[in-house]
Amino acid sequence: MQKQLFHIESNAPVARDTFRLVLRTDAGVAVRSGQFVDIALPGRFLRRPISVSDVLPDGVVLYYKVVGEGTRDLAAMTPGQSLELLLPLGSGFHPEKCTADALLIGGGLGAAPLYLLARELLAQGKRATAVLGFNKADEICLKEEFRALGVPVLISTLDGSVGTKGFVTDTIAAAWPVFDRFYTCGPLPMMKAVCESLAAPGEVSLEERMGCGAGFCYGCTVITRAGARRVCADGPVFDKEEVLW
Ligand SMILES: Cc1cc2nc3c(=O)[nH]c(=O)nc-3n(C[C@H](O)[C@H](O)[C@H](O)COP(=O)(O)OP(=O)(O)OC[C@H]3O[C@@H](n4cnc5c(N)ncnc54)[C@H](O)[C@@H]3O)c2cc1C
Ligand code: FES
Repeated sequence: MQKQLFHIESNAPVARDTFRLVLRTDAGVAVRSGQFVDIALPGRFLRRPISVSDVLPDGVVLYYKVVGEGTRDLAAMTPGQSLELLLPLGSGFHPEKCTADALLIGGGLGAAPLYLLARELLAQGKRATAVLGFNKADEICLKEEFRALGVPVLISTLDGSVGTKGFVTDTIAAAWPVFDRFYTCGPLPMMKAVCESLAAPGEVSLEERMGCGAGFCYGCTVITRAGARRVCADGPVFDKEEVLW
């Protein structure tokens, strides 16, 4: 884990309240899928954790939703400005544990870290299908990016404006995708429903409010079947069996 200075190459809206941020640095970047960066924002005491959606030889691609003051500040930043990141943080997904076919299940911006996971799975000669759930059509993002990798994408929207009407679990029940392992990231109720409905082994990326983001303050502690765990340092990725819903 280290502090590294990046400059903003682009920071543009891609869906409702959702921005794609491309950051470049002078040195190389080593991040695995499921890991995150902690962004220092001028004038803000706490850093903001954001999952890495893609890794470039000298940069990272992030997707973020504007939900409060920090992300509002971020959305106002322009190309050429600098950001200091703490990275890489957290444990990653385990694509090597998938035998042949992975199911990637994202809710909202939970799709973001699954994109890098898809790239890693494909590089290992495995196949992936993505099931992405959103509230409505104007929130959909990353669909074309997954398809450009050759990953089939099934969309569900709560209002039925695109794809299957309902939840990702409805889409999975209707489509019967082939998979031996699943990976999920998104809202807690969605991930709980996914874990309860799928018998295959799976991994879950949890989100908690964070203080230090690096394992020191215990502010992100959750109780799991294996005892108290820090989401930032022991997670954010956990086996589905570990999570106490
Ligand atoms: C490991 C990890 C990865 C994340 N990856 C992404 C990502 O890829 N894209 C993205 O948009 N967001 C991501 N988040 C959430 C993101 O960190 C918060 O949305 C952001 O810090 C909010 O900052 P803010 O100052 O704008 O909002 P604040 O003013 O701090 O909060 C605004 C609202 O957002 C809620 N909130 C803030 N932080 C979190 C959090 N960590 N978990 C749940 N609710 C929160 C608050 O309860 C409040 O309702 C991630 C969080 C974690 C812990
Ligand atoms: S946020 Fe400090 S230990 Fe996780």
